[in-house]
Amino acid sequence: MLIKVLGSAAGGGFPQINCNCRNCADLRRGRPGLSARTQSSLAVTRDGENWVLLNASPDLRQQVAATPELGPPASAGARASPIKAVVLTNGDVDHIAGLLSLREGFALSVYAAERVLQTLAANNVFDVLDVRLVERVALTIGRPMELTGGGAGLGLRLEAFPVPGKVALYLEDPGAGPGFGTREGDTIGLKVADAATGAAFFYIPGCAAVDAALAERLRGASLVLFDGTLYSDGEMIAQGLSSKTGSRMGHISMSGPEGSLAAFAGLGVKRRIFVHLNNSNPVLRADSSERAQVENAGWEVAFDGMEIRP
Ligand code: MLT
Ligand code: MN
Ligand code: ZN
Repeated sequence: MLIKVLGSAAGGGFPQINCNCRNCADLRRGRPGLSARTQSSLAVTRDGENWVLLNASPDLRQQVAATPELGPPASAGARASPIKAVVLTNGDVDHIAGLLSLREGFALSVYAAERVLQTLAANNVFDVLDVRLVERVALTIGRPMELTGGGAGLGLRLEAFPVPGKVALYLEDPGAGPGFGTREGDTIGLKVADAATGAAFFYIPGCAAVDAALAERLRGASLVLFDGTLYSDGEMIAQGLSSKTGSRMGHISMSGPEGSLAAFAGLGVKRRIFVHLNNSNPVLRADSSERAQVENAGWEVAFDGMEIRP
């Protein structure tokens, strides 16, 4: 199995279109130790020929152009794509908008939780994905399934599980109390396993907290790619970028007693990689003390084009 990180940034990317935060400004200036990042997505293959995308970002076209393996195979006919399936972990714009770039008329399967499929069905623009070619498959919590796409098996087994999170920003119901109408399954984590060898990894790009159930699920895992949106809960407020904390946005922070560094400290996860990094996050600076701190805690910071062999 091979994982390629197509996009390691959170929604907005790095640099973000309208952002003059220190990181974005320094990146535009070409300051060393900062590299551009596209929005949140992975590509996974078992056989090197057939690929599944985990989330479809607004930068998908650029990501495919930067990844020769995802272009049409030279031996194929006039039109072909090795992208056979897409799995969505929530309905956020940074995870679904890339579906629109997959409208060019080839067969694939889109897997998502029922409520995310309802969101796609409620937005007619997604009907550009021809129903005769693009099947939509509901992920059932607690029932692992073999991934297929374009009529073939991908040799990968997928398990979806709910994680603490928040409904997509554009679906928030301000009258629905503190959860804004969030229901279980609006944010899921994925376990992807090689069906032949059993080698597996977890992918959890959005997560509000590591509760007891999630901690037990991840204990002893060999590889986890995890929500690295913010270093500290209030960093967007402190930098004058937003009035929202990380917890208000449904994202755990790296630091602090409730943060991911602390939560993973006793879990025995062998390899831990932060994905979905917001442009405000100081770990994006290779020479920052925050980067040193997460690396000292045993974490890696994903970058676009990163290859991982679970
Ligand atoms: C998030 O991860 O919180 C969302 O991608 C935010 C957004 O929709 O921009
Ligand atoms: Mn996001
Ligand atoms: Zn910024």
